Amino acid sequence: MSLDHCHLVTLPRVNDARGNLTFIEGGNHVGFDIARVYYLYDVPGGAERGGHAHKELEQLFVAMSGSFDVVLDDGNIRQRFSLNRSYVGLYVPRMVWREIDNFSSGSVCMVLASMPYDEADYHRDYDAFRRAARAEAEPEPAGASVVSLDRAA
Ligand code: TYD
Repeated sequence: MSLDHCHLVTLPRVNDARGNLTFIEGGNHVGFDIARVYYLYDVPGGAERGGHAHKELEQLFVAMSGSFDVVLDDGNIRQRFSLNRSYVGLYVPRMVWREIDNFSSGSVCMVLASMPYDEADYHRDYDAFRRAARAEAEPEPAGASVVSLDRAA
């Protein structure tokens, strides 16, 4: 999956003198059904989270409080996103390596996820992830499709 598929999502905001309200609907503001919500908090200064990719999971990251950076890597290109608004989400599709750092004091990172937790869905080794990502991105060799056509005939 290329970094082109990663994007910031501006979520709806109901502004009110009593305080603002933002909502997120699965299948609408995020393109997947929300199967799980988790959040990172009490992150000590200088700590780094993430350091993995997911084989199938899609996610939306939101800085509910404070700020942090998400570094995304598709096996080819790396890009740093700074999140610091409760109404902006970062959509991360499957097969994108992420590292999360630069947490401000008291920050809360909420993550909406398309699947329940499954350790088997993780790539935790960067080199193995990179090989798998590049293999997916490579076009099928010309000879391979000829073979399958022959078999189908
Ligand atoms: P991990 O996904 O590696 O955290 P991060 O990417 O934020 O650094 O998960 C850390 C630990 O928490 C790991 O032992 C698995 C566990 N965990 C769950 O049990 N359920 C969950 O939904 C998540 C995200 C993690």
